[in-house]
Amino acid sequence: MNREWELLQIPGPTPIPPSVNRAMSQPMIGHRGQKCKELLEDLAPRLKPIFGTSGDVLVLSSSGTSVLEAAVVNTTEPGDEVVVVVAGAFGDRFAKICETYELNVHRMDVEFGKAVEVAAIEKQLQDTPNVKAVFVTHCETSTGVMHPVEAVARKVHELSEALVIVDGVSSIGGAPVDMDGSGIDLLVSGSQKAMMLPAGLAFAAVSENAWKVIDSNPRPRFYLDLRSYKKSLDKGQTPFTPALSLLFGLQEVLRLIEEEGLEQVHQRHKIMMEMTRAACRAIDLPLFVDDEDASTTVTSIKPESFKAEDFRKLANKEFGLMTAGGQQHLKGEIFRIGHMGYSRPTTVLQYISILELVLQRLGHNFEPGAGSAAAQKAYIQATREMDKNVSRSY
Ligand SMILES: Cc1ncc(COP(=O)(O)O)c(C=O)c1O
Repeated sequence: MNREWELLQIPGPTPIPPSVNRAMSQPMIGHRGQKCKELLEDLAPRLKPIFGTSGDVLVLSSSGTSVLEAAVVNTTEPGDEVVVVVAGAFGDRFAKICETYELNVHRMDVEFGKAVEVAAIEKQLQDTPNVKAVFVTHCETSTGVMHPVEAVARKVHELSEALVIVDGVSSIGGAPVDMDGSGIDLLVSGSQKAMMLPAGLAFAAVSENAWKVIDSNPRPRFYLDLRSYKKSLDKGQTPFTPALSLLFGLQEVLRLIEEEGLEQVHQRHKIMMEMTRAACRAIDLPLFVDDEDASTTVTSIKPESFKAEDFRKLANKEFGLMTAGGQQHLKGEIFRIGHMGYSRPTTVLQYISILELVLQRLGHNFEPGAGSAAAQKAYIQATREMDKNVSRSY
């Protein structure tokens, strides 16, 4: 298979828009010079709406896990009690980081494939009233669930002084988050998913409330010390040499998002989710997550009449379609399709057609073409319901 024919529909890394690739190939610049200062000063305010905040959005040169770790080391001290919602592999990762840093971790286990209930958060806080922070994943990439992080933040603040720390690695850029309005204290993300870049940049949006805790936290930290990033940002710098090519790419990503309109970007993701789910229903493919908990960036399917891995292998070999498998105990049980970043409704039509072709090969019983027809209907219905005056560029 010619690599350039591959359709990369895993939930990150995601395809890079050609104009972003071109932007990343600009000649190198010095990271302490005027050009870099201008670049950083241009990026800083333009990132804020994507995180739903008017506060600082810090940019680190590292993968998403680094900002999960930064969130932990900057806000907590050994022995602190924290609550971590564990509803998949990434909630589990947050919990493991907290355990590594010697926190007293209360894992709130939620069935994989379900969203955490706000009532359960309330009960947890009643049982453990002294928690310093509540950690929750926005889109649990391993299952395709979108957790109600804004409602969780409101409830936590109603009942306690705890910080609310959100992993938005696979949602930011693809789903709206009202960080300031809901009182999320720290919202972290990465570059290789809905932000349409290669891996290598990590983002941390920090509230005023979180800064108070971070500034007075005596725990030693160095590369991940968010205070250094803030101090440097205020001077139009970064504390260490940044991944400059990715910053060039980020500038173009922001231009693309602004050109389409942030709200339209979020709507496009919702439409892609609806098309994918409608198609699966029409061809009898069981969806792993219920509608009300479904993520707009990744859809998980739990096949019954064939093996998930057989589908993934054949789709890749014959059509170059890359999907992701399950993680942890869901390995071999589900497969996941990413529809975020540089993906459009036409991309969905393409992968649904491939899905149908492969399912015919695997002997799954359905009416060929029914998935594509359902995806088209979902598109028409969703776009009709949306504001007629909003122009869409896909
Ligand atoms: C929700 C979530 N959190 C954290 C990460 C970890 O990011 P990285 O692999 O960039 O370290 C991922 C990556 O898939 C993710 O989906």
